[in-house]
Amino acid sequence: MLVYVPPHPLIKHWMAVLRNKDTPQPIFRSALAELGRCLIYEALRDWLPMIETQVETPCGVADVAFIDPTEPVKVVPILRAGLVLIENSTTLLPAMQTYHLGYARDERTLKPRLYLNKLPPSFPQDSRILLADPMLATGGTIVAAIEELRSRGADVRLMRVVSAVCAPPALKLLSERYPGLKVYTGIIDPDLNDYGFIVPGLGDAGDRSFG
Ligand code: PRP
Repeated sequence: MLVYVPPHPLIKHWMAVLRNKDTPQPIFRSALAELGRCLIYEALRDWLPMIETQVETPCGVADVAFIDPTEPVKVVPILRAGLVLIENSTTLLPAMQTYHLGYARDERTLKPRLYLNKLPPSFPQDSRILLADPMLATGGTIVAAIEELRSRGADVRLMRVVSAVCAPPALKLLSERYPGLKVYTGIIDPDLNDYGFIVPGLGDAGDRSFG
């Protein structure tokens, strides 16, 4: 499994805003959306199918390439906070389809509970799928989401995950189960506390985004 922390100053900047417990809710939300834009940009770098052609410029003919609109990336935000992470993705993806998945983690057992599933009955072969979840803590939620996708024919080798903060238990679980997966994250933190929160992390991204 590839876990990539892009070494970009904007990513460091937005992480600093998100980590600060005194950041007000509207600023937190816009920082998470900007971080998502940066991470999705990185995840798309070598991933989109292109159509090579030529266009006439005002001064001649140029070889060019367009993103193939017939193979839109399937974007899967994990509610709630995954919605914010993809908020700015429309400027990066000329063609995309969005399928929502809602999970709430039980505060006592830390197990995810599915409460919304807008996935299609099956995914076309070769579907590229971008999953967005700001935090990978125990890894229970992202594994549950990937299994929902796999049960509909999706191939893990064609999935990419964007996440603000990851913790070792989630990365261990993902790497054991899905060697072909690629994860793009703002930072890898060292630990989880007794309540399953990433330490130092950034707190509850859903609550801090939506109040
Ligand atoms: C958080 C987070 C992930 C999940 C991570 O969501 O956004 O979805 O917990 O935990 P895990 O890796 O241990 O499964 P939460 O359940 O708090 O929902 P929210 O986004 O609605 O706040």
